[in-house]
Amino acid sequence: MEHLNIGRRMNIKFFIVAFLSQLVVTQVWGQANTSALLPLPNHIEHIKGSKNFTLTPQTTIQTNLPEQSFVVGELQRILKEKMDQVVPVTDDTADGNSVIELYTDTSLEGKEHYILDISANRLTIKGATPNAIFCGLQTLDQLLLGDVCHTANKQIAPIRIDDAPRYDYRALMLDPARHFLPIEDIKFYIDQMARYKYNVLQLHLTDDQGWRIEIKAHPKLTEVGAFRNPQAGANGPDNGFYTQEQLKDLICYAADRNIEIVPELDIPGHTVAVLAAYPELGCTHTDTLPKLIGTTTELMLCANNEKVYAVYDDIIKEVAALFPSNRIHLGGDESVIEKNWNQCERCQALMKQLGYTEASQLMNYFFGKVLASVRQYGKQPILWCELDNIRMPAHEYLFDYPKDATLVTWRSGLTPKCIELTAKHGNPLIMAPGEYAYLDYPQWEGDLPEFNNWGMPITSLETCYQFDPGYGLPAAQQAHILGISGTLWGEAIKNINRVTYMTYPRGLALAEAGWTQMEYRNWDSFKERMYPNLTYLMKRGVSIRVPFEIAR
Ligand code: ACM
Ligand code: ZN
Repeated sequence: MEHLNIGRRMNIKFFIVAFLSQLVVTQVWGQANTSALLPLPNHIEHIKGSKNFTLTPQTTIQTNLPEQSFVVGELQRILKEKMDQVVPVTDDTADGNSVIELYTDTSLEGKEHYILDISANRLTIKGATPNAIFCGLQTLDQLLLGDVCHTANKQIAPIRIDDAPRYDYRALMLDPARHFLPIEDIKFYIDQMARYKYNVLQLHLTDDQGWRIEIKAHPKLTEVGAFRNPQAGANGPDNGFYTQEQLKDLICYAADRNIEIVPELDIPGHTVAVLAAYPELGCTHTDTLPKLIGTTTELMLCANNEKVYAVYDDIIKEVAALFPSNRIHLGGDESVIEKNWNQCERCQALMKQLGYTEASQLMNYFFGKVLASVRQYGKQPILWCELDNIRMPAHEYLFDYPKDATLVTWRSGLTPKCIELTAKHGNPLIMAPGEYAYLDYPQWEGDLPEFNNWGMPITSLETCYQFDPGYGLPAAQQAHILGISGTLWGEAIKNINRVTYMTYPRGLALAEAGWTQMEYRNWDSFKERMYPNLTYLMKRGVSIRVPFEIAR
């Protein structure tokens, strides 16, 4: 048995590193059966001197999971797709036949930690949860994808993979508020996410351009807020919403694939769709402005209106009951306080009453009330980390987010400060820095020339791959980082083909940033492992961008 621990070798002096990385490339990545593994598992052992596993007509599946479990079906799907064989589940296996075992084993630590063990007559995947086994199955699928010749002969080379993620939170974010995405399209997106071991889909459900979730207590939110273009049909790109029944189905679809859906309701800015339905929730000076969804921006909910808090309590109550995730994202980004709370008689009166000198201080009051609802319904809040809007006069950062808020760093240039302040104040942090993780940025010069909301930033695939979610910091300074999120804002993204084009291949780089320890990551290896996955995605009808620049 040969044990390859790439990481330790990478830590020694430069010339040895250069030499050994060549060795590693040939020994590990040159192995056909690891050539499509993405994200790269954190521990791989190649087993010498053992025969290949062979799938025969007598091969059976044994499992302690219910036969009808999704995970068992996923194994059967993989074997049918890659080896063209329907393999039955049974308890009795005749001696000498090869067997595939899926076992939950609660002695293994970690919700997604799996062991995939392949030897002559036995292929075993075990983990403490079905989620872990699902992760192991994705690795098996990629082994079969990479090892074309063996797979064609119904053989699998012996290997042992003992793998667990670097981070527990590995998200992508979609924005159906800006352009509505039908449920079937989101399921299609989830299919690809699951393959690359993402485990969270954040849905940005409300914004200036649309309110996309049915709220039974306040039907006007969707009757008005879901129709940016009332003349057009009700299923996108400008119009549409998800009923609670549809969302339940989507949540289950995602959960089967080890993906949790985190809902986002963006407040107190990004709320034109709410204000179109209920104009009385805005600041007094905006009462006379038309609230055209998608065209009037920079409006906010009023901080001094009890009806705002009552309506959001109703909304959060329904959202909390619908989504099993223990998190609710409440936005908190890009509030245009000067143009709203600074100009509003009611907000100004509240400031006086509270002894505040800056309208931005009302943020604490506002979120104090809304987060009380989040807590009451048993959830934890997530907020975008804003250091710009909440700034003291002397340009000191005023950072007084409540301790139970998980923050997301996003503004380019501010991530080091966000990491430092969240560490100091004890807030968990999710990494979505604009420089690396904003998938709405063009991937190369001249790409998507017809629309670019951010000016001119470009996030190439290689830049994306350079993302270290720990920013190279000592362990103690990054211990509060929960994981990563790739963020795809939808202003310019009108359909699922554009969505996946912007996501892949960069989403493969981010998947590896979230899963694989830095010591095992390597750009050249990633490029090689990416190609079979791009072919695979194309065969599944996923629109991807060809990263021509890296091959020229
Ligand atoms: C953001 O990009 N407005 C969080
Ligand atoms: Zn106001």
